[in-house]
Amino acid sequence: MPLAINNAMLASFLLLLFLPSPTSGFAAWLKCSRQLEADEIIMNNKVRHAGEENDASVVKLAVYDESGSTRVDVASDNGGGGAIVWIDNDFTSLSFKIGLDQSTLSDLSDIQYVVESTPFYASPSPRPAPSPNVPTINSNKKQRNAKRTSFTGASGVGGLLCNGKRAHARGKNGNVTYTLVPNKVSDTNKDGIIAEVWGGWSEYHGDVTLTPRIIFKKKDSASLEIGQDQHGQGEL
Ligand SMILES: *[C@@H]1O[C@H](CO)[C@@H](O)[C@H](O)[C@H]1NC(C)=O
Repeated sequence: MPLAINNAMLASFLLLLFLPSPTSGFAAWLKCSRQLEADEIIMNNKVRHAGEENDASVVKLAVYDESGSTRVDVASDNGGGGAIVWIDNDFTSLSFKIGLDQSTLSDLSDIQYVVESTPFYASPSPRPAPSPNVPTINSNKKQRNAKRTSFTGASGVGGLLCNGKRAHARGKNGNVTYTLVPNKVSDTNKDGIIAEVWGGWSEYHGDVTLTPRIIFKKKDSASLEIGQDQHGQGEL
């Protein structure tokens, strides 16, 4: 019965077409060797800069604490719509949930996005010398810490890309987990900047637009400014 076989084949072909692929949408087209940057070509279209002209129309990222309950990014005052997450100077490892700021998504429906982190150190840090197998306090803890700053999880149909340098998620409530790890390079950064995260988003298969950037910055890099503020208030 050639007709029946053809129908079955057609049915499975259609099923395949509509199954979500592991890396859906434009995330699959962005090669790991390239950065998520303006003017990069994704699916025949240039990636567009984060809009700066009208703040309210710019799609932004939002950063929450590990539990996802408290928003931790604050708008930076240097224009451009970027934000800062202030980090304790002596932090060990911190996880955040990062998603799209839902208050900036009013006109959009099927949104998908990719986030990228820099600096990103692709080579693992040197291993400590092998030590005797003695139980330590840490060995009882659930250790899921990343060895370097990277994306370490994603909700729903999202996932990790490029070894954690990127992650992708879909939907207004989609989010990714980002783990910040101290490293020698960032400790010597004079501005106290530990890492920077930005995203690119698109609706259906439309153009990709960048979001403003979010920097993760040590608090002591702002101590001078804060000290001046407190001094000013004291004199009032
Ligand atoms: C992250 O995604 C999960 C799963 O979809 C959702 O339950 C949670 O509310 C999201 N968190 C944030 C901060 O958006």
